[in-house]
Amino acid sequence: MNKTLFITGGAGFIGSALVRLLIAETDWTLVNIDKLTYAGNLESLAMLQDQPRHVFSRTDICDRVALDQLFQTHQPLGVIHLAAESHVDRSIHGPLDFIQTNIVGTATLLEATRSYWQDLPAAEKTAFRFHHVSTDEVYGSLGADGLFLETTPYDPSSPYSASKASSDHLVRAWARTYDLPVLITNCSNNYGPYQFPEKLIPVVILNALAGKPLPIYGRGDNVRDWLYVEDHARALHLVFASGQPGQTYNIGGHNEKTNLAVVDALCQLLDELRPRSDGLSYLEQKTFVSDRPGHDQRYAIDASKIQRELGWTPAEDFTSGLRKTVLWYLANDGWINNVISGEYRQWMDRNYRQR
Ligand code: NAD
Ligand code: TYD
Repeated sequence: MNKTLFITGGAGFIGSALVRLLIAETDWTLVNIDKLTYAGNLESLAMLQDQPRHVFSRTDICDRVALDQLFQTHQPLGVIHLAAESHVDRSIHGPLDFIQTNIVGTATLLEATRSYWQDLPAAEKTAFRFHHVSTDEVYGSLGADGLFLETTPYDPSSPYSASKASSDHLVRAWARTYDLPVLITNCSNNYGPYQFPEKLIPVVILNALAGKPLPIYGRGDNVRDWLYVEDHARALHLVFASGQPGQTYNIGGHNEKTNLAVVDALCQLLDELRPRSDGLSYLEQKTFVSDRPGHDQRYAIDASKIQRELGWTPAEDFTSGLRKTVLWYLANDGWINNVISGEYRQWMDRNYRQR
């Protein structure tokens, strides 16, 4: 059987972690389909430059002709779909890119997939999977109590989460209407190596080291449920390989923290690992700024279904994962400086040939 898999968004934060994991742990060939927006960075896959089982294609998921061609050329056994515009603040300032990629792009990918899948021989057709990688933000905001279940009604707040909710609905509609064997996973906030410095944790680490303010929205009492990115990648592998078609799985780390607690923990780690030259704590750089419009108060995942049915549990807790993350950012100036300067765009042109 052909062992080729499509990964969309494989040059992003979570996609690149998944590509690194699947190359290491399977014998699959991965076709990494990524448009390389500002968030796509092939330097995160520099270690795979000469790996023949990693095939990169710079392709927009809204481009149906290009997608059809990729399906015909590579005949994949499935698709894991991560390509998206992913940052809530950007979605507030410019929602239309989110509508285009997350909704139109997902619908285009679903149609290209369906057209390829419906003509497959019976065995391949049954074994095929379309796995949509989604977020817990589709469920909206929790109050002080409760957890998101797979059955929690959708109630998205931001243009980002509304666009991801729409794409989840499209994926389910393609399953119900056309019998496409789909899987959906809704995961909590990820953190770890190679995250683009616009999300909270890399913003705080890099601003701290640069002597800049650490921006805390509102009162800093919003709660997120943090998961180390490599634990998410392992969960995605497991769901793709063993999940029941038509099912949704919530993924989360049982690590609820207020934003203030996250910033404080980062400052304390940096005080220990890279103390400020003036002897003061990085806590001095904490700065309260205006709140995000429509800011969801609390996210928290009940991950008991994936644990019970597929045996997944996270390997990292917040203490161990955050230390690993800070150590990675401290050890990887090259990657960071290229991201900050914009040099990563040229690095990709110089070092990565499209195959
Ligand atoms: P990211 O922004 O780091 O990466 C997104 C990738 O998609 C980039 O490589 C980008 O170039 C690519 N892309 C964007 N538009 C494209 C298009 N039109 N065609 C092809 N490629 C395109 O995002 P991430 O944090 O790695 O998130 C990956 C997925 O996981 C997203 O679908 C996101 O909604 C979901 N998710 C993220 C989190 C999180 O905490 N980061 C949590 C749960 C779910
Ligand atoms: P973020 O990393 O953008 O993820 P999401 O919005 O998907 O949860 O933000 C995490 C939390 O941190 C969220 O409550 C907003 C807050 N935040 C700040 O307080 N300051 C910042 O600079 C950023 C980027 C986020």
